[in-house]
Amino acid sequence: MTLDLLHGGALDRMREAFPDAPTPWIDLSTGINPWPYPVGAIPEAAYHHLPTQAAYERCRTAMSQAFGAPLESLLLSPGSELLIRLLPGVISPERVAILSPTYGDHARAWKSAGCEIVETDAPLDMAGTADAVVLCNPNNPDGRRFDPDRLMTAAEKLAARGGWLIVDEAYADLYPELSVAAHGGRSNLIILRSFGKFFGLAGVRLGALIAPPPILTSLSEQLGVWPVSGPALAIGARAYRDRSWQEKTRDRLKEARAHLDDTLRAAGLRVVGGCDLFRIVQTQDAASLWRRLAQKGIYVRRFEWSDHMLRIGLPADPESEQRLADALTP
Ligand SMILES: Cc1ncc(COP(=O)(O)O)c(C=O)c1O
Repeated sequence: MTLDLLHGGALDRMREAFPDAPTPWIDLSTGINPWPYPVGAIPEAAYHHLPTQAAYERCRTAMSQAFGAPLESLLLSPGSELLIRLLPGVISPERVAILSPTYGDHARAWKSAGCEIVETDAPLDMAGTADAVVLCNPNNPDGRRFDPDRLMTAAEKLAARGGWLIVDEAYADLYPELSVAAHGGRSNLIILRSFGKFFGLAGVRLGALIAPPPILTSLSEQLGVWPVSGPALAIGARAYRDRSWQEKTRDRLKEARAHLDDTLRAAGLRVVGGCDLFRIVQTQDAASLWRRLAQKGIYVRRFEWSDHMLRIGLPADPESEQRLADALTP
């Protein structure tokens, strides 16, 4: 099996690998909201002209208000993935403690920068010894949550030694109460935000870095003059200002997640973690269940670090949910 298939989001490869699977394929391999923000019409000028400073500021203001982060601590980016890759070029820790399991690109980025990596399920315990602590809150893939007060205590401990706390809040739009964005701008605290997941618009490529001024300056130089496209700025400004959609969406996702849990449990699976955009189930033989689902045109996420876990995103409609339920029944 190729790495792409083991990971999520490679539906074209799945079609090739399982040509006899019934269609349409149901892609539950990512944790992206299946009911995207209704973007509406975007002014032609957003496509036609280079992005203006005013458009950038409108989006930045909407984001900072939605996150509760100080405006001056925010820098916009084309998604948070790029930031993960650029960060090791901006700060130079020797020893980096990274939550494990978590989104794999964190470890990959620090490793390729030559840092010593400690992958641990207790990264905050290393605030007194590591030069940087990296975690996701809530975590992908297991949905683990970290109390913001505990995070800020660790941040202070790290700051006292010149260390860094890096919090990836890619899924924090689901649970604003978990965010430490209000502390944005404090020396030694770096926060990453992603637009694509909660708003269901991963293709727009929008994210943000919340960090103290020297980090913003350095990354801003690397990102260049027009890091985010005009349409992305217009969509982001609109979506982050729309609090009513955000509140309704949180309720809708919570309800859908409860429904998915019922389906998974009815099929005899143990739901052992996740958040309102995806669930983690434990099963005797993850590889064979993954294959069985793939043969039925359903794509879920496997992990290289576990033979027993699968991650399953929210089905978009009752037909998909029924196909999942049928496919799970041996
Ligand atoms: C925890 C986490 N952080 C960051 C990213 C990168 O997302 P994006 O570049 O779309 O902001 C992902 C994508 O899956 C993720 O799961």
